[in-house]
Amino acid sequence: MKTPLYSNQIPVSLGNRSYEILIQPNILTQIGRVLQDIGLSGRVGIVTNPVVNELYGRVVHRSLKQAGFSPFLVVIPDGEQAKSVHWLSKILDALVTQRFERQDVVLALGGGVVGDVAGFAASVYLRGVPFVQVPTTLVAQVDSSVGGKTGVNHPIGKNLIGAFYQPCVVVIDPQALQTLPKREWVAGLAEVIKYGMIADSQFFEYLERHVEGLRAQAEEVIPTVIRRCCEIKAEVVGGDERESGRRRILNYGHTVGHALETWGHYKTWIHGEAVGIGMVQEAEIARFLGMCDKELVERQRDLIQDVGLPIAMPSMKFMDLWGAMQHDKKVVKGQINCVVPKRIGDVQVVPLVRQHIRQWFATSQVSRAKRLKPVPQALTRPRPHKKK
Ligand SMILES: NC(=O)c1ccc[n+]([C@@H]2O[C@H](COP(=O)([O-])OP(=O)(O)OC[C@H]3O[C@@H](n4cnc5c(N)ncnc54)[C@H](O)[C@@H]3O)[C@@H](O)[C@H]2O)c1
Ligand SMILES: [Zn+2]
Repeated sequence: MKTPLYSNQIPVSLGNRSYEILIQPNILTQIGRVLQDIGLSGRVGIVTNPVVNELYGRVVHRSLKQAGFSPFLVVIPDGEQAKSVHWLSKILDALVTQRFERQDVVLALGGGVVGDVAGFAASVYLRGVPFVQVPTTLVAQVDSSVGGKTGVNHPIGKNLIGAFYQPCVVVIDPQALQTLPKREWVAGLAEVIKYGMIADSQFFEYLERHVEGLRAQAEEVIPTVIRRCCEIKAEVVGGDERESGRRRILNYGHTVGHALETWGHYKTWIHGEAVGIGMVQEAEIARFLGMCDKELVERQRDLIQDVGLPIAMPSMKFMDLWGAMQHDKKVVKGQINCVVPKRIGDVQVVPLVRQHIRQWFATSQVSRAKRLKPVPQALTRPRPHKKK
């Protein structure tokens, strides 16, 4: 395959599964040429949802047609429920109906949900057809579209069914983020801060200096943020495609984060919000265990809070938290391995000892109660009506 030149091009080096991440404003209008340039042809099954289809379906369809492809739409519902065996099966039905062949292309147009299920469909249809990621959320642009983790949920657990299947290109249009709901943007910032914490203290400092721009989704910060996150993800994945070692650092914030998502039945927080709280708590665990200093905990907490993310743990029982942490996919023989920070830009994976976490939890509950100072009674008593 030829490699075209784009304004921002990041390689993901995985031997014969290597590919490029292309980042360019309005690249959606040229998607047909991009696919042509890397040697793709034939039919393109655009997997998307009604929200993204309404916004970007037409422009992608038109560009593909102009470049000589035969595109067709496969629309799945919006939301996490579309990441299911049922909707995987519906996508496969559509490919079969279209007599999709081995060289035809599955293109995921949307957030992480669409990318995960479409990628899995591409991996199993005819034992694998070319797959293109066109992520349209911040989470998808900085995280889920890169690295080849695809899959669907099982009723008893998230992402339990899936495959490693790399795309042949990731096409990122930062302009597409302009229509993203504010809450989704802010949630994505948790993953962005995660990259600073796990791999790049200078990037973390950049984020600290640009808090206002991050909150406001300013155009001057978006390219730097997307580029740096993709570079880090590409580097980590390039060194450990199947998560046998270093790739595990990408799970920072996710041990507690996933537990909170499960505990809240995926309704209380969206993923990035739970990860933000998870990073705050996992840093506090590290501090409690003597693995990092107080300054790190405070700087990280301030940044997470300042960009508009929640940081507080809900009021919950220790066994509910510990129990939910045990259901994480990354638990090996009952052992919970958690990523904890050493310094900003450097983390390590440590096994968690139940007794230690119980102690941390008890102390953190006490300090939380202290921080939430009781309201003085005088202020809560109803004031007597003044006579006019
Ligand atoms: N494969 C991986 O490595 C990986 C990594 C992180 C997360 N994930 C998965 O990704 C999923 C979360 O992804 P997400 O946060 O992108 O959620 P999502 O895909 O549900 O998208 C969030 C919302 O934004 C809407 N949307 C998407 N693009 C838009 C746009 N440009 N303008 C307006 N609205 C838009 C969607 O319709 C949806 O309502 C989870 O299932 C998670 O498990 C996978
Ligand atoms: Zn995540």
